[in-house]
Amino acid sequence: MTEFYGAEQAAMHHTCFGDLAADAAVLVVERLSAAGLSEGRVTDLGCGSGILSAALIDAGYTVDGIDLSADMIELARTNAPTGEFTVGSVHDAAIRSSVAVTATGEVLNYAVDPRAGLDALTSVAARAFDALAPGGVFAFDISTPGRNLGANVRHVFHDRDTWLLGMHATETDHRLERRIVILSREADGRYRRVDEHYELVLYDVDAVTDALETVGFGAEVRPSFTQATASQPPSGWAVFVGTKPRD
Ligand SMILES: C[S@@+](CC[C@H](N)C(=O)[O-])C[C@H]1O[C@@H](n2cnc3c(N)ncnc32)[C@H](O)[C@@H]1O
Repeated sequence: MTEFYGAEQAAMHHTCFGDLAADAAVLVVERLSAAGLSEGRVTDLGCGSGILSAALIDAGYTVDGIDLSADMIELARTNAPTGEFTVGSVHDAAIRSSVAVTATGEVLNYAVDPRAGLDALTSVAARAFDALAPGGVFAFDISTPGRNLGANVRHVFHDRDTWLLGMHATETDHRLERRIVILSREADGRYRRVDEHYELVLYDVDAVTDALETVGFGAEVRPSFTQATASQPPSGWAVFVGTKPRD
Protein backbone atom coordinates (compact mmCIF):
# COMPACT_ATOMS: atom_id res chain seq x y z
CA MET A 1 0.00 0.00 0.00
CA THR A 2 1.34 3.46 -0.83
CA GLU A 3 0.79 6.50 1.37
CA PHE A 4 0.66 10.23 0.68
CA TYR A 5 2.48 12.29 3.28
CA GLY A 6 1.89 9.56 5.84
CA ALA A 7 3.31 9.79 9.35
CA GLU A 8 6.94 9.13 8.30
CA GLN A 9 7.11 11.59 5.41
CA ALA A 10 5.16 14.19 7.38
CA ALA A 11 7.62 13.99 10.30
CA MET A 12 10.60 14.08 7.93
CA HIS A 13 9.22 17.09 6.12
CA HIS A 14 8.71 18.89 9.40
CA THR A 15 12.16 18.24 10.84
CA CYS A 16 14.32 18.45 7.69
CA PHE A 17 12.55 20.32 4.89
CA GLY A 18 10.89 23.29 6.57
CA ASP A 19 13.19 26.07 5.32
CA LEU A 20 11.03 26.88 2.31
CA ALA A 21 7.93 27.57 4.42
CA ALA A 22 10.02 29.60 6.89
CA ASP A 23 11.45 31.72 4.03
CA ALA A 24 7.98 32.20 2.54
CA ALA A 25 6.68 33.37 5.93
CA VAL A 26 9.36 36.10 6.05
CA LEU A 27 8.37 37.36 2.60
CA VAL A 28 4.64 37.31 3.40
CA VAL A 29 5.13 39.23 6.67
CA GLU A 30 7.30 41.82 4.86
CA ARG A 31 4.68 42.30 2.14
CA LEU A 32 1.77 42.56 4.57
CA SER A 33 3.65 44.98 6.75
CA ALA A 34 4.52 47.17 3.73
CA ALA A 35 0.84 47.10 2.72
CA GLY A 36 -0.26 48.20 6.20
CA LEU A 37 -2.01 44.87 6.78
CA SER A 38 -0.68 44.15 10.26
CA GLU A 39 -3.53 41.87 11.33
CA GLY A 40 -6.12 39.56 9.81
CA ARG A 41 -6.34 36.02 8.52
CA VAL A 42 -3.77 34.11 6.49
CA THR A 43 -5.08 31.04 4.64
CA ASP A 44 -2.36 28.44 4.28
CA LEU A 45 -3.32 26.04 1.48
CA GLY A 46 -1.48 22.70 1.74
CA CYS A 47 -0.26 23.90 5.13
CA GLY A 48 1.63 20.68 5.87
CA SER A 49 2.99 20.57 9.41
CA GLY A 50 2.14 24.24 10.00
CA ILE A 51 5.60 25.84 9.73
CA LEU A 52 4.38 28.90 7.81
CA SER A 53 1.16 28.96 9.83
CA ALA A 54 3.07 29.09 13.14
CA ALA A 55 5.35 31.90 11.89
CA LEU A 56 2.36 33.97 10.77
CA ILE A 57 0.60 33.41 14.10
CA ASP A 58 3.80 34.56 15.86
CA ALA A 59 3.68 37.69 13.68
CA GLY A 60 0.16 38.51 14.92
CA TYR A 61 -2.11 36.94 12.27
CA THR A 62 -4.79 34.28 12.60
CA VAL A 63 -4.49 31.23 10.36
CA ASP A 64 -6.78 28.83 8.51
CA GLY A 65 -4.90 25.82 7.18
CA ILE A 66 -5.98 22.96 4.95
CA ASP A 67 -4.09 19.87 3.85
CA LEU A 68 -4.92 16.52 2.27
CA SER A 69 -2.72 14.64 4.75
CA ALA A 70 -4.27 13.86 8.14
CA ASP A 71 -0.75 13.23 9.51
CA MET A 72 0.38 16.69 8.40
CA ILE A 73 -2.71 18.29 9.95
CA GLU A 74 -2.03 16.51 13.24
CA LEU A 75 1.48 18.03 13.29
CA ALA A 76 0.09 21.47 12.34
CA ARG A 77 -2.36 21.38 15.25
CA THR A 78 0.57 20.73 17.60
CA ASN A 79 2.93 23.29 16.02
CA ALA A 80 0.38 26.08 15.65
CA PRO A 81 -2.26 25.36 18.31
CA THR A 82 -4.34 28.48 17.69
CA GLY A 83 -4.69 27.82 13.95
CA GLU A 84 -7.89 26.37 12.48
CA PHE A 85 -6.83 23.29 10.51
CA THR A 86 -8.92 21.07 8.25
CA VAL A 87 -8.16 17.89 6.32
CA GLY A 88 -9.23 18.43 2.71
CA SER A 89 -8.21 19.44 -0.79
CA VAL A 90 -7.27 22.96 -1.80
CA HIS A 91 -9.50 22.38 -4.82
CA ASP A 92 -12.57 22.25 -2.53
CA ALA A 93 -11.42 24.77 0.09
CA ALA A 94 -13.67 27.73 0.78
CA ILE A 95 -11.23 30.58 1.40
CA ARG A 96 -12.47 32.97 4.07
CA SER A 97 -11.62 36.69 3.90
CA SER A 98 -7.84 36.92 4.27
CA VAL A 99 -4.90 39.30 4.03
CA ALA A 100 -2.71 36.57 2.52
CA VAL A 101 -3.19 33.18 0.89
CA THR A 102 -0.20 30.86 0.67
CA ALA A 103 0.58 27.51 -0.96
CA THR A 104 4.22 26.52 -0.41
CA GLY A 105 6.02 23.33 -1.39
CA GLU A 106 4.54 22.54 -4.83
CA VAL A 107 1.05 22.24 -3.32
CA LEU A 108 -0.68 23.24 -6.56
CA ASN A 109 1.32 20.71 -8.59
CA TYR A 110 0.23 17.50 -6.83
CA ALA A 111 -2.02 15.38 -9.02
CA VAL A 112 -3.07 13.28 -6.02
CA ASP A 113 -6.23 15.29 -6.41
CA PRO A 114 -6.94 14.45 -10.08
CA ARG A 115 -8.43 17.90 -10.69
CA ALA A 116 -4.92 19.44 -10.47
CA GLY A 117 -4.06 21.38 -13.63
CA LEU A 118 -4.03 24.90 -14.99
CA ASP A 119 -7.83 25.28 -14.75
CA ALA A 120 -7.81 24.19 -11.10
CA LEU A 121 -4.87 26.49 -10.35
CA THR A 122 -6.76 29.38 -11.98
CA SER A 123 -9.83 28.56 -9.90
CA VAL A 124 -7.76 28.58 -6.67
CA ALA A 125 -6.25 31.92 -7.74
CA ALA A 126 -9.73 33.35 -8.43
CA ARG A 127 -11.00 32.24 -5.00
CA ALA A 128 -7.88 33.70 -3.36
CA PHE A 129 -8.40 36.98 -5.22
CA ASP A 130 -12.03 37.21 -4.09
CA ALA A 131 -11.09 36.46 -0.46
CA LEU A 132 -8.16 38.89 -0.24
CA ALA A 133 -8.21 42.41 1.13
CA PRO A 134 -6.91 45.08 -1.28
CA GLY A 135 -3.09 45.01 -1.04
CA GLY A 136 -3.21 41.37 0.11
CA VAL A 137 -0.99 38.71 -1.44
CA PHE A 138 -1.26 35.20 -2.87
CA ALA A 139 2.22 33.68 -2.47
CA PHE A 140 3.11 30.22 -3.73
CA ASP A 141 5.73 28.18 -5.51
CA ILE A 142 5.31 25.72 -8.35
CA SER A 143 7.38 23.15 -10.14
CA THR A 144 7.83 23.73 -13.86
CA PRO A 145 9.26 21.69 -16.74
CA GLY A 146 12.92 20.97 -15.90
CA ARG A 147 12.18 19.97 -12.28
CA ASN A 148 14.24 16.81 -12.85
CA LEU A 149 17.27 19.02 -13.66
CA GLY A 150 16.96 18.24 -17.36
CA ALA A 151 16.99 14.46 -16.87
CA ASN A 152 14.19 12.08 -17.84
CA VAL A 153 14.96 9.86 -14.83
CA ARG A 154 16.68 11.02 -11.64
CA HIS A 155 17.54 9.21 -8.43
CA VAL A 156 17.77 10.99 -5.10
CA PHE A 157 18.99 9.45 -1.85
CA HIS A 158 18.88 10.91 1.67
CA ASP A 159 20.63 9.17 4.57
CA ARG A 160 19.84 10.55 8.04
CA ASP A 161 20.24 9.18 11.57
CA THR A 162 16.83 7.57 11.85
CA TRP A 163 15.70 7.20 8.25
CA LEU A 164 16.77 6.61 4.67
CA LEU A 165 14.84 7.86 1.65
CA GLY A 166 15.29 6.84 -1.96
CA MET A 167 13.36 8.54 -4.75
CA HIS A 168 13.01 7.52 -8.40
CA ALA A 169 11.67 10.54 -10.32
CA THR A 170 10.59 10.40 -13.96
CA GLU A 171 9.80 13.58 -15.92
CA THR A 172 7.83 13.41 -19.14
CA ASP A 173 5.84 16.12 -20.91
CA HIS A 174 4.52 18.37 -18.10
CA ARG A 175 4.34 15.45 -15.61
CA LEU A 176 6.72 14.33 -12.89
CA GLU A 177 6.23 10.93 -11.30
CA ARG A 178 7.91 10.23 -7.94
CA ARG A 179 8.32 6.78 -6.44
CA ILE A 180 9.65 7.07 -2.92
CA VAL A 181 10.78 4.38 -0.50
CA ILE A 182 11.37 5.38 3.12
CA LEU A 183 13.10 3.14 5.64
CA SER A 184 12.33 4.48 9.08
CA ARG A 185 14.10 3.19 12.20
CA GLU A 186 11.74 2.08 14.94
CA ALA A 187 12.44 2.30 18.69
CA ASP A 188 13.54 -1.37 18.72
CA GLY A 189 16.17 -0.68 16.02
CA ARG A 190 14.26 -2.42 13.22
CA TYR A 191 13.39 -0.51 10.04
CA ARG A 192 9.87 -0.04 8.73
CA ARG A 193 9.37 0.39 4.97
CA VAL A 194 6.90 2.98 3.68
CA ASP A 195 6.16 3.59 -0.02
CA GLU A 196 4.88 6.83 -1.48
CA HIS A 197 3.95 7.24 -5.15
CA TYR A 198 2.42 10.30 -6.76
CA GLU A 199 2.55 12.58 -9.79
CA LEU A 200 2.95 16.32 -10.16
CA VAL A 201 1.53 18.42 -13.01
CA LEU A 202 4.28 20.80 -14.20
CA TYR A 203 3.15 24.28 -15.23
CA ASP A 204 4.79 26.73 -17.62
CA VAL A 205 5.78 29.96 -15.86
CA ASP A 206 4.07 32.13 -18.50
CA ALA A 207 0.80 30.19 -18.18
CA VAL A 208 0.74 30.72 -14.40
CA THR A 209 1.56 34.41 -14.82
CA ASP A 210 -1.32 34.70 -17.31
CA ALA A 211 -3.67 32.89 -14.90
CA LEU A 212 -2.82 35.32 -12.09
CA GLU A 213 -3.24 38.36 -14.33
CA THR A 214 -6.50 37.02 -15.78
CA VAL A 215 -8.11 36.87 -12.34
CA GLY A 216 -6.89 40.40 -11.52
CA PHE A 217 -3.59 40.01 -9.65
CA GLY A 218 -0.43 41.98 -10.28
CA ALA A 219 1.96 39.05 -10.84
CA GLU A 220 5.60 38.81 -9.80
CA VAL A 221 7.79 35.78 -10.61
CA ARG A 222 10.86 35.18 -8.43
CA PRO A 223 13.65 32.60 -8.34
CA SER A 224 12.97 31.97 -4.65
CA PHE A 225 11.16 33.39 -1.62
CA THR A 226 14.44 35.02 -0.50
CA GLN A 227 15.65 36.34 -3.88
CA ALA A 228 13.78 38.79 -6.09
CA THR A 229 15.86 38.33 -9.24
CA ALA A 230 18.24 35.83 -10.82
CA SER A 231 20.63 35.93 -13.75
CA GLN A 232 18.73 33.09 -15.47
CA PRO A 233 14.97 32.76 -15.98
CA PRO A 234 13.45 30.20 -13.55
CA SER A 235 13.69 26.58 -14.72
CA GLY A 236 12.22 23.66 -12.81
CA TRP A 237 10.70 25.66 -10.00
CA ALA A 238 9.50 29.25 -9.42
CA VAL A 239 7.92 31.46 -6.81
CA PHE A 240 4.92 33.67 -7.57
CA VAL A 241 3.53 36.59 -5.62
CA GLY A 242 0.15 37.85 -6.79
CA THR A 243 -0.85 41.18 -5.27
CA LYS A 244 -4.47 42.33 -5.22
CA PRO A 245 -4.63 45.92 -6.45
CA ARG A 246 -5.98 48.53 -4.07
CA ASP A 247 -8.63 49.87 -6.49
C1 LIG B 1 6.02 19.65 0.31
S1 LIG B 1 4.64 19.67 1.39
C2 LIG B 1 4.63 21.38 1.87
C3 LIG B 1 3.91 21.63 3.16
C4 LIG B 1 3.94 23.08 3.65
N1 LIG B 1 3.19 23.97 2.79
C5 LIG B 1 5.35 23.57 3.77
O1 LIG B 1 5.80 24.35 2.91
O2 LIG B 1 6.02 23.16 4.74
C6 LIG B 1 3.28 19.60 0.26
C7 LIG B 1 1.95 19.53 0.97
O3 LIG B 1 0.90 19.70 0.03
C8 LIG B 1 -0.19 18.91 0.46
N2 LIG B 1 -1.11 18.77 -0.67
C9 LIG B 1 -0.85 18.28 -1.90
N3 LIG B 1 -1.94 18.35 -2.68
C10 LIG B 1 -2.92 18.90 -1.92
C11 LIG B 1 -4.29 19.22 -2.16
N4 LIG B 1 -4.90 19.00 -3.34
N5 LIG B 1 -4.98 19.77 -1.14
C12 LIG B 1 -4.43 19.99 0.07
N6 LIG B 1 -3.13 19.70 0.35
C13 LIG B 1 -2.39 19.16 -0.63
C14 LIG B 1 0.48 17.64 0.94
O4 LIG B 1 -0.36 16.85 1.74
C15 LIG B 1 1.68 18.21 1.67
O5 LIG B 1 1.41 18.45 3.02
